[in-house]
Amino acid sequence: MFSKLRNEISAHKVRYSVISAVLVLAVVLFALFGVSYIRRHFRTVNIDREQATRTEQIDMKGKKGIIVYFTRVGNTDFAKDVDAVSSASLMNDGGKLAGNSELLSKMIANATGYPLYAIKTKNKYPSSYVDTVIEATKEFQGEKPVELEGTAPDLSGYDTVILVYPLWHWTLPVPVQKFLTENKLEGKTLYSLVTHGGSGFGNAIKDTPKWTSAKVSPLTLSVYDDEVKTALPKVIEWVKKIASSPDGAM
Ligand SMILES: Cc1cc2nc3c(=O)[nH]c(=O)nc-3n(C[C@H](O)[C@H](O)[C@H](O)COP(=O)(O)O)c2cc1C
Repeated sequence: MFSKLRNEISAHKVRYSVISAVLVLAVVLFALFGVSYIRRHFRTVNIDREQATRTEQIDMKGKKGIIVYFTRVGNTDFAKDVDAVSSASLMNDGGKLAGNSELLSKMIANATGYPLYAIKTKNKYPSSYVDTVIEATKEFQGEKPVELEGTAPDLSGYDTVILVYPLWHWTLPVPVQKFLTENKLEGKTLYSLVTHGGSGFGNAIKDTPKWTSAKVSPLTLSVYDDEVKTALPKVIEWVKKIASSPDGAM
């Protein structure tokens, strides 16, 4: 009887130790990843658009380029009362929202003098970040077709396309895929700038040739979403490399 009791006590001890270990692991994982996630996704990021994008003009050495970008802001129906600036990947410029890809594109535009074109969807994404992720999942699974709004500019005069977008589900957002398939970029060189929440390029660069016949340059840049507002020096260094690259000139 005593040995049965002893066995039960030791079984309880083992169970208790396992539960404690799991709890400790959960706390450690939350401290490592959860806190930074919450900090990044639920904190206000104030920016001064003008100041964050002010830069010198770079000689693009005859390359005729255009900047095409896609961003959540401008493609989202933000509720009027939404505390938008405390939502993931959004920045507040004196009460006006700014998307990460938009800000990065503005940096490139100021450095190159290239025109900007924003990819817009007919249907807007929901205000909530989580609902947008769900919506995007449906788009990737083909359950929700994406239609683009407006007509893209005549691209025939450009030899260089700088494409800026957020990484979605480890690849190019469906609206960006659509833009690439709907616009013939044959003979042009495509330079990609991907902004992300920790996954770097994911599969985006590898996937790009599936959607376009442009020459996809290996000269790429990724910017972590938390570092967008201070990314100007990194972006300028990249644009200078594009200017000196043998690719792109007609
Ligand atoms: C629908 C959706 C899917 C995303 N998927 C990823 C992902 O797979 N990996 C990652 O690192 N970040 C992911 N993110 C985070 C964005 O890439 C990141 O916050 C980006 O800087 C947002 O740029 P934007 O403000 O121009 O939209 C995702 C964001 C959304 C809304």
